[in-house]
Parts: sequence; C-alpha cells; structure tokens
Amino acid sequence: MVRDPLLRLEAVSKVFDGGTIGLDNVDLDIGHGEFVSLLGPSGCGKTTSLRLMAGFEQPTSGRVLLDGQDITALRPYDRPLNTVFQDYALFPHMDVSENVGFGLTLRKISGAEISRKVKEALDLVGLGDKIHARVSMLSGGQRQRVALARALVCSPRVLLLDEPLSALDANLREQMQIELKRLQARLGTTFVMVTHDQTEALSISDRIVVMNRGRIEQIASPAELYDAPATRFVAHFIGTMNLIEGKALETTGEFHRVAAGPMTLEVPADGAAPAPGAPVLVCIRPEELSVLASPSDDAVAAQIMSTVFYGPMLRLFVEIGGGQKLMIDTPRRTAAGTFEAGALVHVRPNRGSGRILSGS
Ligand SMILES: Nc1ncnc2c1ncn2[C@@H]1O[C@H](COP(=O)(O)OP(=O)(O)OP(=O)(O)O)[C@@H](O)[C@H]1O
Ligand SMILES: [Mg+2]
Repeated sequence: MVRDPLLRLEAVSKVFDGGTIGLDNVDLDIGHGEFVSLLGPSGCGKTTSLRLMAGFEQPTSGRVLLDGQDITALRPYDRPLNTVFQDYALFPHMDVSENVGFGLTLRKISGAEISRKVKEALDLVGLGDKIHARVSMLSGGQRQRVALARALVCSPRVLLLDEPLSALDANLREQMQIELKRLQARLGTTFVMVTHDQTEALSISDRIVVMNRGRIEQIASPAELYDAPATRFVAHFIGTMNLIEGKALETTGEFHRVAAGPMTLEVPADGAAPAPGAPVLVCIRPEELSVLASPSDDAVAAQIMSTVFYGPMLRLFVEIGGGQKLMIDTPRRTAAGTFEAGALVHVRPNRGSGRILSGS
C-alpha cells in the first residue's frame, strides 16, 4: 500500500450508457513521484481509468482524490494534471512553439514567460532546434516529443499518458521508453501510463497495475509481478509461463514441495501452506527449468517435441511423464549438447523457483 498517496481512485465504478461496465469498484493509490503503468488487454478499462483521473469522464460511483482532496467534480482544466493522448492531438496549423505554449496562453501568462517555458520544455525533450517547425514536417518520434513537451510545460502534478509510444516503430519505441523513464526520474513528476505492451510496462515502471474486465488483478513491482503472479490471468498475461496441475506434498522451512506430474517443485513458501494432498495450480517460467545431459535424482526425463530459435536463446517444447507439456528456455549450446526434436533430455526445475497460484 502507498502511504500518503498523491492520486487515489476510491471505489470507482463507471457504467456507460447502454450498460457497459468500464470500471468495476476500483481502488488504486499512486504515490508521489511514481511511474505507474496500467496494463491489460483491449477493453479492460485502462483508458477509462485515465479519463476518470483527468476528469474527461465522471465516475458512476466512487471518488477521485488528489493529495487527499476530492477532485471528482473538478473539470479537466481545473485539475493539475495533463494528458498525452495516443494520437498526440497536436494542432496541425500551428508550429511547434504554438502547440507547446497553447495551454499557457489560456492561463494568461506573459508572452516572455510563455517563450521561456516553451523553450525549456522543448529542450527537455531534445527538440530545442525545432521550435518554429511546422508539425506536419515532423517525424512520428518528434511529434511524440512535442506532445510530451506540451503536457509538461504546465508543470502538472501528474502526467497521464495513453499508449504514448504505440505509433512508433520498434526501435524508436525502445529508445523513447528509455528517454521517458529518464525524463520522469529527472523531473520527479508522477507518471501514469497506459499500455498493452507488457515488455514496455516491465522495463519502464516502478509499479504495474494489471487490469482485466474493469477490475484490478494485481498491483506490484515488475519483478514481483514476474516472479509471483497472483492469479492465473496475470501468469498468462505477463511473459511466458508453464502452468501445471499439481498436488501439495508438504511445507518444510522456506519451501512448499509440490508434485507436478513426475517432477517435484520446491517453490518459495510465501503464502499459506496448502494441506498435503490438496490439488494446486503451480506456475514456473521456461528459464527456471534446466536441461541436463545425464539423469539426476532431481531431474525427470523429457522428450523434445520441437524447438524455436529466439536469437539469444532457444525455446524447447518438451513432454515429460503423464503427458505434461513444458516450455524450456535454454542457451543454444550447453553441456547437454545441442537440441533437436526427438532427442531425450533431463529436466530439472531450479530450486526456489515457481509459485503456487492462489487466486482464480
Ligand atoms: N464512451 C463509451 N461508451 C460506451 N462504452 C465505452 C465507452 N468508452 C469505453 N467503453 C467501454 O468500456 C470498456 C473499457 O474501455 P477502455 O477504453 O477503458 O479500454 P482500454 O483498456 O483502454 O482498451 P484498449 O487497449 O483497446 O484501448 C470497453 O468495453 C469499452 O467498449
Ligand atoms: Mg485504451
């Protein structure tokens, strides 16, 4: 939980005309200076959450608070928040400086002050030399920066970003992710970013809010989310995961022991100990399974069904006893040799990896 949150959604629901539920009783706290991503599949309520924060949408029930003050009834322009829209929403007939300064002209600030702030904001996003360029002459990445500068020039308490990088190609996108993170760290401004790209969310955020059907499935740091997904949905949505129907054996000290088909997993004992013999659903990442050249007490025999080349590593699709299928990520060449479909190998789960999924 966040102590003394900057922005809070309190039991917020949004039902649209026609009955579609956009958000279903969502509680969310965002701390000062945090970079938080809202992540989830199409239609899960990410944009709706952002629009409720910005004030473009009113909740059906619940409240929006900033620094403990109820801002639910405030109009967007009366909230110290700015939004970067997915399509940037720049004014094509204005040049870069006019676009960036637009919000300031509405606030009755002197011309000299506007020029100074516009210059500062454009320098911040590395576009100082494009101050008088026409927006139509700019590349996608440059437009993205103009949109950022325009949102930052008003020094918002919170910057809201709706899929800000989705229009960019893969390389530029990766570069902008790094820049966005650096910018946020330097300014110390709270950023809330919507994305449906899990890699982007994992690499850029302090915390990630995973959403599904208008509800929050899990809020956690990227590493926590990756290592200990709370629900089957999160386990599926973040990265690649092996899900295995297993049976609880016993809990000894720091591990729950679980029979997963012919394998025995020793997963960290975080969470209540399941009753011995109880059916459990366990998950383990493909990179947490090691391939051995020869049999071992703690390994099980597996047959490679197929392989997929991923550059830095190879993904093996194998089958172990009981028809259980697993994915394993391994370097292409290991002590166990190279890997080909049909070959027999031995698979050992890394001790202390995997988790029992407690949620549904
Ligand atoms: N103005 C509206 N009127 C009616 N239904 C809406 C409206 N806006 C959103 N919805 C519905 O609310 C749900 C959540 O929509 P939202 O736009 O928040 O999804 P999203 O997570 O941003 O998805 P995407 O990744 O596709 O942008 C969807 O079922 C959507 O169809
Ligand atoms: Mg959206």
